[in-house]
Amino acid sequence: MSFRLAVLASGRGSNLRALIRAQDEAVLATRIVGVFSDRPACAAIALARDRAIPSFAHRPSGYDSREAFDESMFNQIEAVQPDLIVCAGYMRLISERAVRRFQDRMINIHPSLLPKYPGLDTHARALAAGDREHGASVHVVIPALDAGPVIAQARVPVLAGDSSESLNLRVLEREHPLLIQCVKVISEGTITLSGGQIHWKGRLLRSPLLLNRFDQLEEST
Ligand code: GRF
Repeated sequence: MSFRLAVLASGRGSNLRALIRAQDEAVLATRIVGVFSDRPACAAIALARDRAIPSFAHRPSGYDSREAFDESMFNQIEAVQPDLIVCAGYMRLISERAVRRFQDRMINIHPSLLPKYPGLDTHARALAAGDREHGASVHVVIPALDAGPVIAQARVPVLAGDSSESLNLRVLEREHPLLIQCVKVISEGTITLSGGQIHWKGRLLRSPLLLNRFDQLEEST
């Protein structure tokens, strides 16, 4: 039986596309059982429809509160019985109640080397700070925004003359293999999430894994 993924996305959907390709190429032995969104017209939802993946997208404005929207969406998520929920460019804050309901079963990809730059505009902030290195992180979702324990990171250099667009592209290129490898190790049981802690090969992970140039995860030294 394959490992079931629910993917949450709000925009372009390049991380969703990368996950689908990894499944098609049997890099991942997973099955995306639903794509969920707060933006019915987004490219990620169009892609899901194209690929005949069940999709559920509703506008939050039709609900009385954040909690009511999340309750409805996460009921639909529960109905597809995911083993893991992957936030891949889901741009809406998730209410604490929904996060707690799926504790240890939800991860997020974020375009910075957390704990640096939670929230928006990460590339511009890295440039403004004069950072020499930037990147992306996959972390466990907890109620506080972009603050959960980090499973793994991919690093890229910041080059002279970079704009936030050029930096965004360099990071995005590494986000895709990073997310795929994180989903892979979780689906294979090499990483386990429990009680807000990450275990890697049975041992507590004390610092994030790194994506190396062969697109494999390794312990940082
Ligand atoms: C990515 O940069 C991801 O890290 C962030 O939102 C962006 C989504 O891109 N959370 P896409 O929709 O997967 O192309």
